[in-house]
Amino acid sequence: MKWKNEYSLGIQEIDDQHRLLLSSFSVIEEAIKLKQGWSNVHYSIIGLKELARMHFTFEEALMRLFAYPEAKEHRSDHEYFFVRLAAIENNSLRNSTENELLEFLREWLTIHILQTDMGYARHILSGASVVRSAPPPLKQDLSN
Ligand SMILES: [Fe+2]
Ligand SMILES: [Fe+2]
Repeated sequence: MKWKNEYSLGIQEIDDQHRLLLSSFSVIEEAIKLKQGWSNVHYSIIGLKELARMHFTFEEALMRLFAYPEAKEHRSDHEYFFVRLAAIENNSLRNSTENELLEFLREWLTIHILQTDMGYARHILSGASVVRSAPPPLKQDLSN
């Protein structure tokens, strides 16, 4: 799965992480295309899951930091990624799920980046401010 300019959210760190996710997906794609064994394919899925976990945590922190109003729905979409992936993996022990796996990952990554992630990026880049701490309590007058 090749990186396209339209995937760019305009936040460099996020774009870099998305590039890594896409190349991790390509490793899985390649393993399947070369008909590598079940364990090789699943070893590469573990790599993608680790990256995704780190990336989602990063995004969720950003959304919290900038009080993104749709953070809850966004988090649910991240959770769905792991739930669906686990279901496909479980099934792969009995059936051939390679096509289903590739189709799900390709579609989820594309739509999630282009629509879901684009939402918080626009929020941040349109000038949302960082959530500030509550002002410190007024100093008590100890002179009396
Ligand atoms: Fe996301
Ligand atoms: Fe993302």
